[in-house]
Amino acid sequence: FLVDKGNYRHFMAKEIHEQPEVVGRTVAHYTDLSAGRVALPFELPFDPAKLDRITIVACGTAYIAGLTAKYWFERIARVAVDIDVASEFRYREPPMSRDGVTIVISQSGETADTLASLRYAKAQGQKIVGVVNVGSSTMARESDVQALTLAGPEIGVASTKAFTCQLAVLACLALAFARARGELTVEAEARYVAEFLALPGLMAEALKHERDIEAVAHDLARARDVLYLGRGTAFPLALEGALKLKELSYIHAEGYAAGELKHGPIALVDEDLPVIVIAPPDGVFEKTVSNMQEVAARGGRIVLIGGAGGAEAASLKLHASIVMPAMAPTFAAIVYALPVQLLAYHTAVFMGKDADQPRNLAKSVTVE
Ligand code: G6P
Repeated sequence: FLVDKGNYRHFMAKEIHEQPEVVGRTVAHYTDLSAGRVALPFELPFDPAKLDRITIVACGTAYIAGLTAKYWFERIARVAVDIDVASEFRYREPPMSRDGVTIVISQSGETADTLASLRYAKAQGQKIVGVVNVGSSTMARESDVQALTLAGPEIGVASTKAFTCQLAVLACLALAFARARGELTVEAEARYVAEFLALPGLMAEALKHERDIEAVAHDLARARDVLYLGRGTAFPLALEGALKLKELSYIHAEGYAAGELKHGPIALVDEDLPVIVIAPPDGVFEKTVSNMQEVAARGGRIVLIGGAGGAEAASLKLHASIVMPAMAPTFAAIVYALPVQLLAYHTAVFMGKDADQPRNLAKSVTVE
């Protein structure tokens, strides 16, 4: 069916701005908000209490959603997670238990490597949970559980709203697994569900900072290389920031776990290098501050995406700061994804690049 750009210049901008709505819709589909409980819209054909590990496989931005979810499954549900990009997974032929669970994540449900990985895991006897956006896709059909993301059609080549909806579904799955494993009290579950309920409002709030983000983008448009740093779930977001920036603006960018800074990327830091630090006020914030100090000592231009007071807490001279609303840290990545997407989008627009149709890229990679 027909999808138009509405009042936006690009589908990507429209899809970024749709996120409060589609994430809200997705969360509502997976929770009983009034009861303060997760309520999956399907039966699980396995007992999460019996799992000793889950495997996650995906490509591109969907892989980054999986990497974020690894933190949630491990910390909240106390289940170990193996995660790999599908193009490696399918040829590694990893041994898998016959009663295990594999989660595949895909917007299109048609990515060739992810589909081949799904079939491999299935042949190994795994139950497949497909986190997919297209309900009629091959992966949706071949999964034992269709965990649909209700993002609606995504037209921009670089995934945005499907990504945050994937995160929302994976967060709900992590809570459902946690409950089944006896790792979640009724109070904790109600608290997390209340955090989900707050997401659309927080995302709408985050989008109000678009002007500040545009100003940073204006500056990034002149950079040759950009480094993104983060810890915890902000680490996958650093990867996502770098991926989006190179896809859309063709500027070389790298995402790194902030703690790995001294194992390589610090050698690149000089006055010309913008360093985007994603640091919500969470348990590892102080650790990230020490990495910012290392960057600042070498003259790097730090852009902090953090909470109010983050800049003062870091007590450093920052090049710019993008302030996110206050929120509980566990699922903050779902909100912090928005400035990361907008930064890449506006940089591309400043540079006159086509944000919806970046060169050499396809929306769905259905051949190897
Ligand atoms: C392409 C798209 C990305 C997407 C990836 C995986 O590279 O440009 O935005 O994340 O494929 O696609 P999928 O449909 O499997 O999520």
